[in-house]
Amino acid sequence: MKVVIVGSGGREHALGVKSVECRAVEKIFFIPGNPGTKEIGENVQINPDDHDAVLKFCLEHKIDLVVIGPEKPLTEGLSDKLREHRINVFGPSKKAARLEGEKSFAKELMLNNNIPTAAFKVFFKENYKEAVSYLNSVSYPTVIKADGIAAGKGVIIAENVEQAKAAIDECFVSSTFGEAGNKVVIEEFMTGQEASVFAITDGTNFILLPAAQDHKKIFDGDKGKNTGGMGAYAPTPFVTENDLQRIATEIVEPTLTAMRNIGNPFAGCLYCGLMMTNEGPKVVEFNCRFGDPETQVVLPLLEGDFVELLKSSAVGKLNMDSVKYNGGASVCVVAASGGYPDKYEKGFEIKGLDAVNKSVKIYHAGTKEVGGKIVTNGGRVLNITSFSEKNDLIEAKKIAYEAVSKISFQGMHYRKDIADKAIKK
Ligand code: AMP
Ligand code: GLY
Repeated sequence: MKVVIVGSGGREHALGVKSVECRAVEKIFFIPGNPGTKEIGENVQINPDDHDAVLKFCLEHKIDLVVIGPEKPLTEGLSDKLREHRINVFGPSKKAARLEGEKSFAKELMLNNNIPTAAFKVFFKENYKEAVSYLNSVSYPTVIKADGIAAGKGVIIAENVEQAKAAIDECFVSSTFGEAGNKVVIEEFMTGQEASVFAITDGTNFILLPAAQDHKKIFDGDKGKNTGGMGAYAPTPFVTENDLQRIATEIVEPTLTAMRNIGNPFAGCLYCGLMMTNEGPKVVEFNCRFGDPETQVVLPLLEGDFVELLKSSAVGKLNMDSVKYNGGASVCVVAASGGYPDKYEKGFEIKGLDAVNKSVKIYHAGTKEVGGKIVTNGGRVLNITSFSEKNDLIEAKKIAYEAVSKISFQGMHYRKDIADKAIKK
């Protein structure tokens, strides 16, 4: 079987590492991949935004399965284009990807189907005055979200009316988020532990993978700015077996049913970003793809045939027994460039990659090969990921940080408290 993985981050590297283990896989191509993926397959220098070029490649190489990593090609319809040519694709259609691409669509779907989420109201740019006056009637903190995809920056937690008004102005007046901010969702602030749960589905049947917890803030103790994710661990004890049952019956099942009912069945990975509140799990957001860096810690916990899982979703006949939880634990620490998530420099040599114990996986994210050396090429550079055979996060954390200590590049910084919330529980 020949597989294409679209994307170039740590998530795609992890998807590749998990897929090459599978017996049926002869070869993996990455479009465009990174220096890490080159070790396990072939990087193809095609821009994933060029859907025609991706299609041409897949047809010419008789690709059996395409796995689309990031949200952009999904919300822009790459999977539809490939399916029109009878190519098997893991990932939802453009219309189903609206669950991530338009927050107001997802919120209204949840409201109409009694799916637990924060109370909310939607405002258009034309209703600027109503939006501002509504701010006087809500309790604080309150959450203001740009409707579209804003690279993780379109969510503002306002502590008071002034901050909320400033957030509305950012969307409607200064247009900081471009078109993504022409519509805003104002929603109730929820408290609890956050968790990420992936439902792998063919549109009807689904399985849930072990729950993970991301660390979105740049500094220890969840301080500082939001980032793409500074580390993750799984499984998280904040999601119990009973919670997983509730997530399946109260969230995933009704969401998939609602999507089928409106004629846009969702097949692929439904990423449920959750708040574990006192009243039970509630949806913070849906994504239409695997999470990054959660994928890096969830996949090592699966035994069985991962590619069979993806392929069976793609052909509309989910094999519910293709993978199961192997009983282990995993911790991923993100090594970032100095200055990230603000301005940072690139091009520093990364040292120590070979000194790390082979049981630790180093997924590449923002790296580049220059003259035989690996150098930094992005904000989040490496995802250093451990695996413990027992569900022992203390052990998994120790292994991950031992590996981190062997790696260096100028300006490297990372959080030292990944998994601590779970360990202290
Ligand atoms: P989102 O892009 O919707 O996942 O939001 C980014 C982050 O903002 C989430 O991971 C939460 O930490 C926070 N957040 C979003 N919505 C809420 C909410 N209603 N209550 C509390 N925190 C929220
Ligand atoms: N880790 C958050 C995301 O993938 O959206």
